[in-house]
Amino acid sequence: MMRVDHAGEYGANRIYAGQMAVLGRTQTGPLIQHMWDQEKRHLAKFNEILAENRVRPTFLLPLWNISGFLLGASSALLGKEGAMACTVAVEESISEHYNSQIRALMEQDPDRYTELLQVIKEFRDEEMEHHDTGLEQNAESVSICLFVLFLFQYV
Ligand SMILES: [Fe+2]
Ligand SMILES: [Fe+2]
Repeated sequence: MMRVDHAGEYGANRIYAGQMAVLGRTQTGPLIQHMWDQEKRHLAKFNEILAENRVRPTFLLPLWNISGFLLGASSALLGKEGAMACTVAVEESISEHYNSQIRALMEQDPDRYTELLQVIKEFRDEEMEHHDTGLEQNAESVSICLFVLFLFQYV
């Protein structure tokens, strides 16, 4: 579970890196940077959690490195709306993923997982913010990024 979260945050970082490479100098740059900065925090936290629990990251990280960046960059090449559509699709998928984890942890043993629950809830809220930011920025056809939703289930 922690491995999947880590991979998701890693992928998100690479997507925003790709978007920044294309749109970094445009008006949308600061907005993307802001979301990326939050993703950096998420990833740093999961790096910590993985180390503390001696969990290995997924061996697919190099794949996420490249595919995440390409996805971010290619969606951004379609313009701001393309990038935001990608953000909406990805962040929706991550938020749902965190929500189902929260449910699972609550069912299992909320007292044991207090700290982890707090982390995941906080991140889930920020992913929702990213999702809403994408929508506010006139995200176009979410279908561009639908395959990401598909990919995220197979980390
Ligand atoms: Fe995140
Ligand atoms: Fe996010």
